[in-house]
Amino acid sequence: MASLSSFAPLVFLLLVIGCTARPFYPLPSKGDGGSRKPLQTLRPYNIAHRGSNGEIPEATHPAYTRAIEEGADFIETDILSSKDGVLICFHDATLDNTTDIANYAEFANRKRTYEVQGENITGFFTVDFTLKELKSLRVRQRYTYRDQQFNGKFQIITFEEFITIALQAPRVVGIYPEIKYPVYINQHVKWSDGKIFEDKFVDTLQKYGFKGSYLSKNWLRQPIFIQSFAPTSLVYIANKTDLPKILLIDDIDIPTQDTNQSYWEITSDEYLNYIKQYVVGIGPWKDTLVPVAKNYMRTPTDLVSRAHAHNLQVHPYTYRNENSFLHFNFSQDPYMEYDYWINKIGIDGLFTDFTGSLHHFQEWTSKHQDDDSDNDDNTASKLLHKIAMLLASYK
Ligand SMILES: *[C@@H]1O[C@H](CO)[C@@H](O)[C@H](O)[C@H]1NC(C)=O
Ligand SMILES: *[C@@H]1O[C@H](CO)[C@@H](O)[C@H](O)[C@H]1NC(C)=O
Ligand SMILES: *[C@@H]1O[C@H](CO)[C@@H](O)[C@H](O)[C@H]1NC(C)=O
Ligand SMILES: *[C@@H]1O[C@H](CO)[C@@H](O)[C@H](O)[C@H]1NC(C)=O
Ligand SMILES: *[C@@H]1O[C@H](CO)[C@@H](O)[C@H](O)[C@H]1NC(C)=O
Repeated sequence: MASLSSFAPLVFLLLVIGCTARPFYPLPSKGDGGSRKPLQTLRPYNIAHRGSNGEIPEATHPAYTRAIEEGADFIETDILSSKDGVLICFHDATLDNTTDIANYAEFANRKRTYEVQGENITGFFTVDFTLKELKSLRVRQRYTYRDQQFNGKFQIITFEEFITIALQAPRVVGIYPEIKYPVYINQHVKWSDGKIFEDKFVDTLQKYGFKGSYLSKNWLRQPIFIQSFAPTSLVYIANKTDLPKILLIDDIDIPTQDTNQSYWEITSDEYLNYIKQYVVGIGPWKDTLVPVAKNYMRTPTDLVSRAHAHNLQVHPYTYRNENSFLHFNFSQDPYMEYDYWINKIGIDGLFTDFTGSLHHFQEWTSKHQDDDSDNDDNTASKLLHKIAMLLASYK
């Protein structure tokens, strides 16, 4: 309570400014953008990794609507391209592991071997199929130990369809699309207007009105983080949009696909200092932040605190509830894992395959900003943040 009362004069001042300028209720003229429940911004973001893909086959319409029902702050996807240059939501370069492509005799001659991110892969590649052909396929569950009942039921969706799902959600839900394998996509797909993959990606976002820097009024209306493992793509699009960007960081033995830089190079203070001109945060593989040996977690590295010292958010991936993914320290309890990362390590967002469980954990341990005022967001910084948000929404 001490922290509250010491800020009371400031709160009072801000309230007076707010009251003299505007009435303190939503203006009807603000339209529907103002009436939907806003994005929560006071606790780590619940990022629905490929939708609620722990339950429903990844990156499908139902996986995303399920994630929205379950409380996702952001729905996440990988963006690739079809042969005819349509941006689609799909994780693998190949269709083999998550669609029924093997059942189509007419496509049997499309198998190819391409180099993707320094590795030769053989299979059926999205870049060899038109959107119409891709739409004829059906998605299936990647993991045998997850629910198989939805196999063969849902189609691949386009980037535009994905955006529409978020925009039509009953509350404000952000999107978190990845510029996936840009080097490989630009090698295999050419657009007739001479634009490249990154241009098409940004054009699509602009077409749907995504604009503004992190926490700006426009951003809060349609929140988004753009993610990529390729620093060149992020730097390139920084000229086109000030939307917030996240640099993904792969395992310690995988160099960047475009600049061939090592993990150690891109996590150095010098590099963080450089990249922070372009990004608002990093998205590292969680086992590089707290290394693992024999399925036990070791001493955490200092990357989270160094990133925070550079004012960069940290959104690690990927949280999965199954025993096979949980380190022994967590006693087979996914809530212990969430608790560790949120409250001990202090991260800013979590890519999870199980949006519902993360949402329940957060609701039970850290209530929503718009719930009753007897919640725990009474620290000075949270209070100031809340006031700033309140004022921003009535400017
Ligand atoms: C992939 O295959 C091509 C053709 O055989 C070869 O030139 C290239 O070095 C291979 N790349 C890798 C990463 O193995
Ligand atoms: C399918 O998944 C397995 C296991 O992750 C992987 O080794 C293989 O390369 C994938 N197949 C294709 C064609 O991508
Ligand atoms: C961004 O735009 C500036 C000014 O037009 C240009 O000099 C620079 O090369 C551009 N950067 C990238 C990465 O395209
Ligand atoms: C990437 O860097 C490594 C280590 O410096 C080097 O051995 C390798 O040849 C480089 N690869 C490419 C494609 O430049
Ligand atoms: C995980 O458990 C191991 C074995 O008990 C212990 O040495 C290690 O410190 C624990 N790690 C964390 C991060 O608590």
